Amino acid sequence: MNSFPANIYFTEDPQQTLKNCLAQFNPDKVAILVDENSFNYCLPFFADIENLQVIEIESGEKNKIIDTCSFIWEQLTAMGSTRKSVLINLGGGVIGDMGGFAAATYKRGIRFINIPTTLLSQVDASIGGKLGIDFNGLKNHIGVFQDPDAIILCQNFLKTLPIRQLKSGFAEAIKHGLIYDESYWQEIREKPFALNLDWNLLLEKSVMIKSDVVKKDPHEKGLRKILNFGHTLGHAIETWHLETHRDLLHGEAVAAGMILEAQMAYELKLIEKKHFEDIISYIDSVFERIATFPTFERIKSLLSQDKKNQGAMVMFSLINGPGSCLFDIVVNDDDILNAIQFYQSYKTKN
Ligand SMILES: NC(=O)c1ccc[n+]([C@@H]2O[C@H](COP(=O)([O-])OP(=O)(O)OC[C@H]3O[C@@H](n4cnc5c(N)ncnc54)[C@H](O)[C@@H]3O)[C@@H](O)[C@H]2O)c1
Repeated sequence: MNSFPANIYFTEDPQQTLKNCLAQFNPDKVAILVDENSFNYCLPFFADIENLQVIEIESGEKNKIIDTCSFIWEQLTAMGSTRKSVLINLGGGVIGDMGGFAAATYKRGIRFINIPTTLLSQVDASIGGKLGIDFNGLKNHIGVFQDPDAIILCQNFLKTLPIRQLKSGFAEAIKHGLIYDESYWQEIREKPFALNLDWNLLLEKSVMIKSDVVKKDPHEKGLRKILNFGHTLGHAIETWHLETHRDLLHGEAVAAGMILEAQMAYELKLIEKKHFEDIISYIDSVFERIATFPTFERIKSLLSQDKKNQGAMVMFSLINGPGSCLFDIVVNDDDILNAIQFYQSYKTKN
């Protein structure tokens, strides 16, 4: 693997790093997008930077929608932002995805800087330039690819993050090891999840993996699809929870999706029994299984909207050994159903 891309900054002093970026971009206006949590816990890190115009939105996936985007465009317009202005996205993946989309489309695109403040957005969402919003209940249905002008990563933001949110981000780190780097997966697996994990190590390894994959395939024509391991069924489950107002975090849905899709990989003889069991038992040691599930028919109709589909065929990304993943795998309905039954049988077995 190569070195980190030039627009990614690891820092213990995010304020100074941001000052350096702004000095380089020399913007006429600087807006900073926050939600109530990043306003309270993260904005104070930048207290010495003058003339930041704050745009605050309500937190949560349910707000990653066009109405909130319109609000951001209105605020940018009201403050007189021009093509020379910069938008800083300070928050988790919701802020990064939506703020990036708003910036990439405002006046056909202005500069934006991601300062991710959740583990999930630091190890994954802020990297790779996938920007967008949910639309008509479908996850990330509208969006663009555009790389941020800078990504500022600082683990100190994680100190205020609730453990449930840390675990949610950890799911993406598990995925990175499973799809791309067996030694990273083994390192993760050696230790139980704990609050004193080495976040910098996770950050460096995950960011390296994600940026390496994205560099090879920026627009997801091929290899980049491996990053969707656990996400095909994971997104269907997450979308159903969102539409039925049930509480489920992105990483929790991905953890469920990885169990389901590892089971499919095992059934298709892509992974050995031992690896399959190692994966399931580790994920189960971190995450509780989801109790409420959509019907199979609803899952199928949600899968029909998956962005990797080719015509009517749903394409999965499935691991074929620890540290390796295939993409564009067609799985028949029986195997999907078997995986769901396996997932749901857990409680009776244990
Ligand atoms: N673009 C991509 O490549 C990509 C990849 C993975 C996930 N995503 C998207 O990312 C989103 C999930 O991101 P997320 O898990 O960061 O969720 P999130 O943005 O909803 O943040 C989770 C919660 O943490 C709060 N928070 C943020 N920083 C905090 C801090 N430092 N201290 C305390 N609380 C803080 C937020 O206000 C929110 O309540 C989903 O929309 C998902 O689709 C995008």
